[in-house]
Amino acid sequence: MEKILVLDFGGQYNQLIARRVRDFNVYAEIKPYTVSLDEIKKENYKGIIFTGGPNSVYDMSSPHYDKAILDSGVPVLGICYGCQLICYMRDGKVESASTSEFGMIDMTVDKRESLLFSDIPDSVVWMSHTDYISQAPEGFEITAHSDACPCAAMENPAEKIYAVQFHPEVTHSEYGNKLLENFIFKICGCSGDWQMESFIDSTVNSLRERIGDKKVILGLSGGVDSSVAAALLSKAVGNQLTCVFVDQGLMRKDEGDFVENTFTKLFDMNFCRVNCGDEFISRLKGAVDPEDKRHIIGDAFYEVFWNKVREEGDGGFFAQGTIYPDCIESGKGDADKIKTHHNRVKMPEDIKFDGIIEPLKDLFKDEVRRVGELLGIPKELVWRQPFPGPGLGVRIIGEITEEKIKVLQEADAVFRDEIAKSGLESELSQYFAVLPDVRTVGVMGDHRTYDHLIAIRAVTTDDFMTADFARIPYDVLARVSSRIINECDNVNRVVYDITSKPPGTVEWE
Ligand code: XMP
Repeated sequence: MEKILVLDFGGQYNQLIARRVRDFNVYAEIKPYTVSLDEIKKENYKGIIFTGGPNSVYDMSSPHYDKAILDSGVPVLGICYGCQLICYMRDGKVESASTSEFGMIDMTVDKRESLLFSDIPDSVVWMSHTDYISQAPEGFEITAHSDACPCAAMENPAEKIYAVQFHPEVTHSEYGNKLLENFIFKICGCSGDWQMESFIDSTVNSLRERIGDKKVILGLSGGVDSSVAAALLSKAVGNQLTCVFVDQGLMRKDEGDFVENTFTKLFDMNFCRVNCGDEFISRLKGAVDPEDKRHIIGDAFYEVFWNKVREEGDGGFFAQGTIYPDCIESGKGDADKIKTHHNRVKMPEDIKFDGIIEPLKDLFKDEVRRVGELLGIPKELVWRQPFPGPGLGVRIIGEITEEKIKVLQEADAVFRDEIAKSGLESELSQYFAVLPDVRTVGVMGDHRTYDHLIAIRAVTTDDFMTADFARIPYDVLARVSSRIINECDNVNRVVYDITSKPPGTVEWE
């Protein structure tokens, strides 16, 4: 398989670079700059992209790389810091400007016949730098400039080394994608034959080979990643796969049944649903502190899950829905540390497996979704909005009771239904109802009521680190409010949460 290496020097757009390359049906993987040159050589990469990074090449602590990488004959493209690093490695001159060049900048192409700039006119590019190349290294030609940046791009085509000061991977660079396409196809000579269909075929084959006639066990949450992993494993080994689905009674309305129906009807596997809502509620009795509740739910979940796995007996493989962003080692800080993630669960020592299987560990989220669609998982599951592990437990403020779960499930179902009907689903990143521990006075007919308050929350965000409350049209809000009060017992008031993150969080607890 042809591959491009994205060598990570700690820039913020590194995953985006890999995504852009993959959009051209060429597999790209990200490795931290601490990876050895020998390891890189072993992989037969078709090309290497040096990413940006927050440092200056002259800082003692800034990430550098073995100069020999530029002599290996593999085409290299340096971006931003990566561009300056190439200059530094080849004894050119990098200097610090008195002011930074930041934002959308007009770039002039100086070498029209450059392969990298094929079909790229003078255009706007995204710049974000203070250091700049004041003298290109020997053997390099400057191929583009801007008013403030004498060397916006340089190249040594004989050695297939190219470098750009701007960020072609961000959409603000008008012809950024074209530039990456030129690098991948015209310079690296890739053919672009990496496709999701072939990913599925080759993964299924290698899963069959590895698993043989052994069994596989997978914890299925009903979330996108574990669902797609389940479908892929089912295609590979059918009923050698057992999926354990712990229904803690804190799912959304009818969600447990939907997950069970999907996987028992559409896929060949042993599906094992553990209904333990009552046990969770009794363990949660009296707990009101958000962290206490989270711990109780988390501990109970793992206890129930691993007990079920123990019943299945030792041996065979343990599968997880880990995806690529969960495993990328960052070029920033401690590059040896792999990010821990809730998808990667800790295993009790008494349970022995022949190995761990993570069939999606090379895919980004949208690629996982694509695989899910191709495998026939229903759209509502593949495009499911994020749902926290502790479920409705973090959306019921105060003590969790069966009655409150029911009220919240009904209100949440109405809200989701209205969002679907208004066609707003794809515009919202997450939307749900919350049950604060509040009762308010109201009037229904001639009667005074004293009932639950429901809060509804809808946010837009790219990464969930920050978020804004969604500007849902008033008429949609009005329908949601009216339906919740009419259709949900014991609710007499609805409020809309207009807090952004920060200072708020997406969830209420
Ligand atoms: P917050 O509330 O931290 O949420 O702004 C950001 C995103 O994370 C989800 N979330 C969780 N997911 N276990 C999870 O698996 C949790 O305990 C948890 N808490 C929050 C939240 O739904 C949102 O998408």
